Amino acid sequence: MEAPQNLQTTPNFTNDDGVSQECENLISSLASEKSFTGKKLYNYQGSWYHPNTLQAILNFKKHFQARDSDIILASLPKSGTTWLKALAFAVVHRNKYAANLVSHPLLSDNPHNLVRFLELDLYVKNQRPDLEELPSPRLFATHMPFQTLHESLRDSPCKVVYVCRNVKDVLVSRWHFRSKLVSNYSLEDTVDEFIKGAYSFGPFHDQVLSYWKESLVNSNPVLFMRYEEMIEKPVAQVMRLADFLGCSFTDEEKQAGTVEKILDLCSLGNLSSLEANKTGTSTCGIAHHAFFRKGGVGDWKNHLTDGMARKLDEMIEKKLEGSGLKFE
Ligand code: A3P
Repeated sequence: MEAPQNLQTTPNFTNDDGVSQECENLISSLASEKSFTGKKLYNYQGSWYHPNTLQAILNFKKHFQARDSDIILASLPKSGTTWLKALAFAVVHRNKYAANLVSHPLLSDNPHNLVRFLELDLYVKNQRPDLEELPSPRLFATHMPFQTLHESLRDSPCKVVYVCRNVKDVLVSRWHFRSKLVSNYSLEDTVDEFIKGAYSFGPFHDQVLSYWKESLVNSNPVLFMRYEEMIEKPVAQVMRLADFLGCSFTDEEKQAGTVEKILDLCSLGNLSSLEANKTGTSTCGIAHHAFFRKGGVGDWKNHLTDGMARKLDEMIEKKLEGSGLKFE
């Protein structure tokens, strides 16, 4: 997810252009590209960022104190982040709210306010947000690639869940999302951006591969999930998530339909129909309703030309070659 630049607040120690001297020095050493809005993006550790996000990442790297019980949800924007946030929150806190679902926080608040982004929310608003008071397990989210996140976790065994989605649906979802915020954002521009790789948190393949490779190494606690598998086999995928997070569903819970209840609560239909998600703006500066659209698999077929789809398929196939990761 990408917050519009004018809606983000910046730390109060910054220079006129919104970043610290340290960040300015870093920026001067980085490769840059212009984003579709004409604003500059900078390549840091293989990923592209706007300056205020880069500042937030520096703040995070300097000050974040990981707890072993922390859970970090990672994704590229438009890959199912909102859904994963809702599911992880509901799974982890299910005992607190099981008896009285009517008072469940997901019914009265947006998932992005319940699981906040590190670099797009907490550390962009505050150089050193107070996260010590939060009860364990703390849930956070990020769009950073694994290498940048990992460095800041300083060998903590906290759990990382990554969700990925096929690139063509991500692209179409991004195009719809950005079109709500900016006029003149064409599908052709979006395809060009993806082929070039220079868009915030891109390129797609580098980020996906950073988590994919880590998930294959046993000693690293990264769960790699796919939006398409969550759509196809939601019960199995939620149980997999719970197992990974160390809070497996008991036989009694399975028999009582707890998994299905969580899926209903977190469904696109349910969340998007709630008053809390129809109105208001999230803590990261985006209107709540903008996170919900059509969902599902294959909407790209309604938008991309054969030529666009072929170009993207060829690019992804080439970039993922030899990794063992494939998209249908
Ligand atoms: P579409 O634009 O294809 O509809 P993110 O949360 O990473 O920003 O991704 C947004 C995409 O996830 C959008 O896809 C949105 O509709 C979909 N989405 C949001 N909430 C969802 C949910 N509860 N279940 C399934 N998909 C969801």
